[in-house]
Amino acid sequence: MNADITVLFNRIADGLADQSFAVIDHFLSAEETSAILGEDEFVNHKLHFRKAGIGKTDKQFIDQVRGDFIQWIDPARATPAERIYLDRVRELLLFLNQALFLSLKDIEIHRTVYPPGTRYQRHLDQFKSDDHRKLSVICYLNTDWTPDQGGQLRLYLDSGTLDILPEGGKLAIFRSDLIEHEVLPATRERYSLTGWATDRPPELHV
Ligand code: OGA
Ligand code: MN
Repeated sequence: MNADITVLFNRIADGLADQSFAVIDHFLSAEETSAILGEDEFVNHKLHFRKAGIGKTDKQFIDQVRGDFIQWIDPARATPAERIYLDRVRELLLFLNQALFLSLKDIEIHRTVYPPGTRYQRHLDQFKSDDHRKLSVICYLNTDWTPDQGGQLRLYLDSGTLDILPEGGKLAIFRSDLIEHEVLPATRERYSLTGWATDRPPELHV
């Protein structure tokens, strides 16, 4: 592992241990994020992505609650640019397993687009019926995002709320069972890779 990435990984481990979350700039470089956004899947997302639902089974589709469009990534079919991200995240999970004595097995990830004006209301990421999602791991892909464009990830912490701008290359990671959060509406399309590290081998998502 190169020295720079070890510094990032250590900061993530410290954040998770101390505060149950971490936010890291430049987890991906500008070139790496624009390569992911430039792949056909994102360029043509209106053809590929489907409205995201709420809940694990019997999905509900309520725009006021959750407005994003998603496409699950089959790791065997990830694009070359996504593979770089996937490999780095898997390396991070191995690191966290050692540093924090976790038993994370893998990560399930979807491509995500929030059209302008859409949101995801305050929620927890763990399903009532299933506690295998341990860490929520989101990497943003948006260039030149400014605060007036909205789209913040808002974390609800004991100390109050923390708003995180969805700036390209930034990684937000937090305990799926503990940290309530929401996505505020934005004035432009908001792109990300959204994932959950689980303590069992991944399920197939369609
Ligand atoms: C989610 C979610 C946060 C974000 O997809 O469950 O909370 O910043 N996403 O996109
Ligand atoms: Mn969430």
